[in-house]
Amino acid sequence: MSTSTVTPGLDALFQPFQLRGLALRNRFVMAPMTRQQSPGGVPNEANQGYYGRRAEAEVGLLLTEGTFIDRPGYLHTPGVPRFHGAEALAGWGGVVAEVHARGGAIAPQLWHVGSQPTDPKSPVETEGPASMTLADVEDTIAAYGRAAAEAKRMGVDALEIHGAHGYLIDQFFYGKTNQRTDAYGGASHGERTRFGVEVIKAVRQAVGPEMVVILRLSQWKADDYAARNATTPRELEAWLGPLSDAGTDIFHMSQRRFWEPEFEGSDLNAAGWAKKLTGKPTITVGSVGISNDFLTTFASDDLSKPEANLGELVRRFERGDFDLVAVGRALLEDPEWLRKVKDGRHDELQSFTRESLGRYY
Ligand SMILES: Cc1cc2nc3c(=O)[nH]c(=O)nc-3n(C[C@H](O)[C@H](O)[C@H](O)COP(=O)(O)O)c2cc1C
Repeated sequence: MSTSTVTPGLDALFQPFQLRGLALRNRFVMAPMTRQQSPGGVPNEANQGYYGRRAEAEVGLLLTEGTFIDRPGYLHTPGVPRFHGAEALAGWGGVVAEVHARGGAIAPQLWHVGSQPTDPKSPVETEGPASMTLADVEDTIAAYGRAAAEAKRMGVDALEIHGAHGYLIDQFFYGKTNQRTDAYGGASHGERTRFGVEVIKAVRQAVGPEMVVILRLSQWKADDYAARNATTPRELEAWLGPLSDAGTDIFHMSQRRFWEPEFEGSDLNAAGWAKKLTGKPTITVGSVGISNDFLTTFASDDLSKPEANLGELVRRFERGDFDLVAVGRALLEDPEWLRKVKDGRHDELQSFTRESLGRYY
């Protein structure tokens, strides 16, 4: 039987969060997770139920799975929802209404995969920093702005720009993939950040000053986990500074395990450094409430136990390293995860296995 007692020490994470137009009932965020459950790229009733259940179970903010802006490349992966076209936008409208009806908040994650080969069988041409003309670059920035304007019209609570994991925006940030010799390339972080800066500015212009714009970043790439954009705090500052000035409200720093230090000589993680360097609120993520990281889940049958790194999470939160905590697989496995954690019902938490990825509930 459930009790209403918050697990000791976790109380702080159940405090509300407010930043301009965004009001959240607690600090927990569902991490964006591609599910490929939207046939034809159109969100449907099953998608409404999936997000609605997590809203009902008190998750503060739902970041949606990556959803494609209006550029070539969006067809790479079947079942990934689009964020353009009347039918897909109406589908998203249904998801947003459902989440709001259940007391939740939702932010779409706007995505362009760039030249990342997510589906080698796809007939669609990829586009990335190596192949994009200046006209392509300008149209892509405009497409982010159009998606943001649609999101605002739809009444979403915030927006997330996917600038992580080696996809398009990150391909511009990363020196190895951005070999351009025009104004969107260059030897310095500042030069390679220009594309991301212009995306943020276009989005900001579309949504106005009140709506919170979240930017997700990572050092690692989906096809190269050892890759790093910034090897020192100074490089991180050179990368994040212009993005912060351009209008990013929250930095969402994607890492596999939240307790891992970003640089030698300090135990701060990526979110901790981003907050220290920019002064902006941050989201941390990576194996919260789960014992193995998500790449291990993809690669093996290892059980991922629903255990306890929450004490370490609270220690870092109370130190002020981050403001919000994103949870991925634990919330895929169990829509009720947060309520169980809140009530201290740890024995009711289930293990996350590779099979869990195949279920959609
Ligand atoms: C099935 C699955 C799909 C994912 N899709 C996305 C995505 O669309 N966008 C994104 O930024 N991250 C994506 N991720 C990464 C998660 O957002 C998160 O950072 C990662 O799972 C680590 O959090 P966890 O350890 O709590 O699962 C995905 C992860 C999983 C497991």
